[in-house]
Amino acid sequence: MVYSFFGDSAERMRWNPAALARAAKRRHRRGIVQQKLSVGILGATGMVGQRFIQMLDRHPQFEVTALAASDRSHGKSYEDACPWILPGEMPMYARPLRVHAPHPPLDCDLIFSSLPAEVARNSEEEFARAGYPVISNSSSWRMTPDVPLLIPEVNHQHLRLLETQRANRNFASGGLIVTNPNCSTIMLALALAPLHNRFGVRDAVVTTMQALSGAGYPGVASLDATDNVLPFIEGEEEKIERETLKILGRMNGKQVERALFSVSAQCNRVNVSDGHMASVRVKLSRPASVEGIRDAMSSFTGLPQELHLYTAPKRPLIVRDERDRPQPRLDREAGGGMSVTIGGIMPDSVFDFRFVALSHNTIRGAAGATILNAELLASQGHLDPLAARHK
Ligand SMILES: NC(=O)c1ccc[n+]([C@@H]2O[C@H](COP(=O)([O-])OP(=O)(O)OC[C@H]3O[C@@H](n4cnc5c(N)ncnc54)[C@H](OP(=O)(O)O)[C@@H]3O)[C@@H](O)[C@H]2O)c1
Repeated sequence: MVYSFFGDSAERMRWNPAALARAAKRRHRRGIVQQKLSVGILGATGMVGQRFIQMLDRHPQFEVTALAASDRSHGKSYEDACPWILPGEMPMYARPLRVHAPHPPLDCDLIFSSLPAEVARNSEEEFARAGYPVISNSSSWRMTPDVPLLIPEVNHQHLRLLETQRANRNFASGGLIVTNPNCSTIMLALALAPLHNRFGVRDAVVTTMQALSGAGYPGVASLDATDNVLPFIEGEEEKIERETLKILGRMNGKQVERALFSVSAQCNRVNVSDGHMASVRVKLSRPASVEGIRDAMSSFTGLPQELHLYTAPKRPLIVRDERDRPQPRLDREAGGGMSVTIGGIMPDSVFDFRFVALSHNTIRGAAGATILNAELLASQGHLDPLAARHK
């Protein structure tokens, strides 16, 4: 169920999350309900696209009305175009929908994009220019200075970049681009955020073990993956190193000032279906203890939890004390796939502390991240012009 922000002074409250939360409660008491917003998914037939289709089945705020993919799929029904590989059946609602080219117009209010980066930049810009809010999982716009690179629990303040974006770009009314980070970056930035807030991160070194589904479908050839570890993932290390600093950076006036520490990343593809894992070592600016780190992480929550956003997990970080956790098969579904599981918090003989993180790469690392971003945008009034169309 979604509540309209019309009737409240949305502009005045936009940057005041507490006021927004109070307004949501008032509307809830008054029983003000708005219709669902219709969503078009770009890259709908792929690994992340399928997660969108699955996660948006019976979503209270969004319903999928349009799909797009490559010319391999154009004109086909989703059922015929999509090699469905997720557990469970393809949702009934999606089966008859036609697959279109990823260009406007599409019959929807807003766009969720999981296009390959090479095609995403132009396609997403076309939609924003045509007045569609674009909430993207692709990498093309992430590091653009006036585009928020958003993890709602960590840096919702970065949504202020949308004011600059509106001023800089000739997007039609309602058009905007918001991105979510790379799948491993989300896990790392969520894990570092409470440490950075409480102790200050000075340096971080991360070694990832990334699942096969991170390479999309059909992804890595079976003869490369079986009985093997691939010690290179194109572009991944650079993404983790630069995106983390933008996410943990602070708004300074109209721009994000990058966080002032260094991140070093090494990435490996391992023979696991879903769930990226990372060994992390950190140096901190202020004295800390294992107990202090544990407490900072396990008590960490943010605006999505305060606003009870539908896709938000109760606990963004779940700290486990067993020495042999987290493990992909056992922990990737934690919090509906939206929680990052942390284990092995220990003093480190070279850095200050080390720990292991694990998250579901196509849920918290991709489709779930985009959906949570959209829920946050809706809660902050950024999708209101669309709500008006339904009145
Ligand atoms: N997999 C993950 O864990 C993950 C996590 C975070 C971010 N991402 C990012 O999400 C995006 C999608 O990843 P994925 O894993 O879902 O990849 P994928 O399984 O290879 O799916 C790619 C999708 O894009 C469509 N597509 C390919 N070329 C196209 C073109 N030229 N024009 C229009 N559509 C085209 C495909 O349509 P057809 O089926 O018609 O070919 C398919 O729907 C990528 O940018 C990736 O970096 C992925």
